[in-house]
Amino acid sequence: MGQYHDPSIRPSEIPSEAVYFDRRYVLAALATSAAVIGGGIEAAPQTGRPAAPALPEPRYTRNPKFSTNEPPNSWEDITTYNNFYEFGFEKEDPYRNSQNFRSRPWSVEIDGEAEIRGRFTLEDILKPHSLEERIYRFRCVEAWSRIVPWVGFPLADLIRRFKPTSRAKFVEFTTLLDPKQMPGQRTRVLDWPYREGLRIDEAMNPLTLLVVGVYGKWLPNQSGAPLRLIVPWKYGFKGIKSIVRIQFTERQPATSWNLSAPDEYGFFANVNPAVDHPRWGQSKERRIGGNFLASRIDTLPFNGYAAEVASLYRGMDLRRFY
Ligand code: MTE
Repeated sequence: MGQYHDPSIRPSEIPSEAVYFDRRYVLAALATSAAVIGGGIEAAPQTGRPAAPALPEPRYTRNPKFSTNEPPNSWEDITTYNNFYEFGFEKEDPYRNSQNFRSRPWSVEIDGEAEIRGRFTLEDILKPHSLEERIYRFRCVEAWSRIVPWVGFPLADLIRRFKPTSRAKFVEFTTLLDPKQMPGQRTRVLDWPYREGLRIDEAMNPLTLLVVGVYGKWLPNQSGAPLRLIVPWKYGFKGIKSIVRIQFTERQPATSWNLSAPDEYGFFANVNPAVDHPRWGQSKERRIGGNFLASRIDTLPFNGYAAEVASLYRGMDLRRFY
């Protein structure tokens, strides 16, 4: 994505304390956590190496209301062609370099303008929420797209739980900082840790999903284990992976790609075929998988979710607020 292609490793830049939380991972909590009503679609054959440790797969219901009818891409399409700069800059790097990443045990810090704050284990985060499967379109700013059966729960439900104050106008998300495990963080390709943000009304929209699984399985590391964001009407870079902190803020948070190249990557990043990226058009996209060459299709405003979200931006100049 970005304009920087200098993966040189400078050991002197490695922070001395890696952020790693080693709370015990409690299997039982997960087993009883999510709603246990039925399964979803059959999982695709998993040819990738599974993420350790083995856990009971998530229980979830399918949500047809929020799902597209388009056929999902394969497990391989979704898990071997990724952007996760912490593990390298080529599309296969995250799959290749993240296999030993420890995504369990995990904890998430809830911070900022909220009545309830603190550090919570992944199990505590998941416990009150029912997981559901939603088949979403995913559009990368690099003009490729795919269809993904995510498993997760609405971010709005988590936000309500932690009771943001009236000063909370934005939500900021932060990825783990751990250069020992994440070789890309030993380079200066981005200002680590990866950060993203949403306006609070975007965060509360029912389409916005905190994702823990894909194709009925826990997220593999390269897809952002154990917890990532998916905002289906925005370019893929808003979908921050391996989240360790969710903070409610009064001011618009700085975000990684916007800091790195502000002319190219805006804070809003709504999929918009009418506003080109400075270096390429955005009116078409290449649907990965299948017949690669034949699959150039029109990009839809808000990635096809305009009916649900266009009203969030009423009165805003979307050329300026890209
Ligand atoms: N999150 C982190 N922490 N680091 C990243 O490099 N890349 C983003 C986003 N989330 C990225 C990230 C970009 S550019 C895209 S397109 C999506 O993740 C890719 O998600 P996928 O690999 O599941 O397709």
